[in-house]
Amino acid sequence: MSVPFVDLKAQYQAIKPEVDAAIQHILDSTQFVLGAEVAELEREFSDYSQAAFGIGVNNGTNALYLALLSAGIGPGDEVITVPFTFVASVSAIWYSGARPVFVDIDPRTFTMDPALIEAAITARTKAIIPVHLYGQPADMDPIMEIAKKHGLLVLEDACQAHGAEYNGVRVGGIGDWAAFSFYPGKNLGAYGEGGMTTTNNAEYARKIRMLRDWGAEKKYQHELKGFNMRLEGMQGAILRVKLKHLDKWTQARADAAGRYNALFAGSGVQTPYAAPNVRHVYHIYAIRTPERQKWIDALNAKGIGNGIHYPHPVHLLPAFEDLGYKKGQFPHSEKAAAETLSLPMFPELKADQQAEVAAAVIELQRAGAGVSR
Ligand SMILES: Cc1ncc(COP(=O)(O)O)c(C=O)c1O
Repeated sequence: MSVPFVDLKAQYQAIKPEVDAAIQHILDSTQFVLGAEVAELEREFSDYSQAAFGIGVNNGTNALYLALLSAGIGPGDEVITVPFTFVASVSAIWYSGARPVFVDIDPRTFTMDPALIEAAITARTKAIIPVHLYGQPADMDPIMEIAKKHGLLVLEDACQAHGAEYNGVRVGGIGDWAAFSFYPGKNLGAYGEGGMTTTNNAEYARKIRMLRDWGAEKKYQHELKGFNMRLEGMQGAILRVKLKHLDKWTQARADAAGRYNALFAGSGVQTPYAAPNVRHVYHIYAIRTPERQKWIDALNAKGIGNGIHYPHPVHLLPAFEDLGYKKGQFPHSEKAAAETLSLPMFPELKADQQAEVAAAVIELQRAGAGVSR
């Protein structure tokens, strides 16, 4: 039996009548860009994320970028983030004109190590972007405390963490803003591109709302130099349908993670760590192995889907060479990039599919450890 890495078709089949009706509604209403469905989604998703405002944009990267712009962050400023993330967290800083500054991750959670932040703060630092990687919130209490002490803003990169919780509070309103991606494979995925910034700050919300739509609150009254970064009506309507299912899907992901953990128990396979004070939403379930390429080849040969999130820490990518960082500066990020291996994870994943994945992985683990079966 082959096991896919994700299965968007299974999810669509399960909700086809609702999605098709939502699409038909947009065709009938012709509200193709922004419109009532996007406005409703903004209300519903900001409520869901326990934030006062939500502004729908055309992807998660721009949800990050417009947040930075709304506070006037730009050339001459520095923004602290982690190198073990998708490149977009860093690109958004770069677009603003500010300089990305890296701190390493906690090797257990793969999220920003708060103990390393203060050494990276300079007179130019304006903001911190913790990334809720794989669906696990970064350690927000110490991050918020450091930010407060130094007068810095905090932008949560929640692109992989819809509905995740830290100390019982949803990501989305813990920092000054949060950015979500609705890329199709995300926990809440559109059928195309989409994103949203959430915030409790009315002024930031107003600015982002203007910036995504040519810098105007009223048509042709361009107060700011803005952009065309609007969320489409079709995506708004589809996301509203899918949001109603999100908690059920998140529970299914958590159940699947629990099944993997049970299957791997005692095998020596390095399973992901979830901090006790978080609701991890398992966008990604990543194990670790120093023999990754061998494992990938073996899983591929068996038709078992897998992925790497992400194979290169951003400070070692050619695109960001000009920041001047060198190999060895962020050892935990570098090691995680070399060893993490993502296994199939999606709400419709079945126990028998997981048993197959686990059997293949445990066989590799035993072969590597030289343990006979
Ligand atoms: C951590 C992280 N940040 C930012 C992004 C950017 O989101 P998008 O692809 O919607 O621009 C993504 C998703 O791709 C992500 O995983």
